[in-house]
Amino acid sequence: MSAMDAALDRIANSYDHWLQRRYVQGKLAADPAYAATAALVKERPLPLLDIGCGIGLLGQYLHAQGVTTRYLGVDSDARKIDTGNRALRLAGLDGVLQLRHADGMATQPIRGHVVLLDVLHYLPREGQRALIDNAVAHLAPGGLLVIRNVLRERSWRYALTRISEFFLSASGWMRVGAQHYPSELELRSQLEAAGLITTIRPLHGNTPFDSYLVVAERGK
Ligand SMILES: C[S@@+](CC[C@H](N)C(=O)[O-])C[C@H]1O[C@@H](n2cnc3c(N)ncnc32)[C@H](O)[C@@H]1O
Repeated sequence: MSAMDAALDRIANSYDHWLQRRYVQGKLAADPAYAATAALVKERPLPLLDIGCGIGLLGQYLHAQGVTTRYLGVDSDARKIDTGNRALRLAGLDGVLQLRHADGMATQPIRGHVVLLDVLHYLPREGQRALIDNAVAHLAPGGLLVIRNVLRERSWRYALTRISEFFLSASGWMRVGAQHYPSELELRSQLEAAGLITTIRPLHGNTPFDSYLVVAERGK
């Protein structure tokens, strides 16, 4: 087993319920968003705010890769934050990584990179705009805003993703179902109007789902 596989196993084993461990193993194996984020921030050591952090997987992944300075994850679902905090305690990382129950619109005492992985479509269009404005307000000079999201488009991936989102919400894993899928144009125009240089590329990985990586940074 490689050192990275062992590190991913340790992350999965820090979750106390077997179903969560299975979920985390599958997610870390299949989802390219965590590695993509690590690759983007590793040469730019800044604090990182993870809005809609869920059970805190990104923080644990970045720590395992040795690329975090300070990490704060916030999520409006208290159950997920409790689960994430229990995992941090089990992993002995509760003094290193921070998870906090809070709405993504709240101001946090941290400036650096900001990450929004699979969060935007759970908000209505105006909520998304406000959340992005709040994310931009937390960027430090040199900080990156990293967004991974489904984008509204005509494709079989998009259709399949909408169906899977329906089941996620019906199962209760997501308390609020998808509200609005942003288009590439919506995101790009808001970010560029905020003065950020924006690149958008597909990030489907080994999944059949629709997924894009949006990276926005202030010009020098
Ligand atoms: C699909 S999960 C993604 C979790 C995590 N970002 C990841 O990729 O591992 C979306 C998360 O966004 C959170 N969320 C949705 N709206 C939010 C808001 N207004 N403020 C903070 N978190 C929010 C949900 O509670 C959920 O945990």
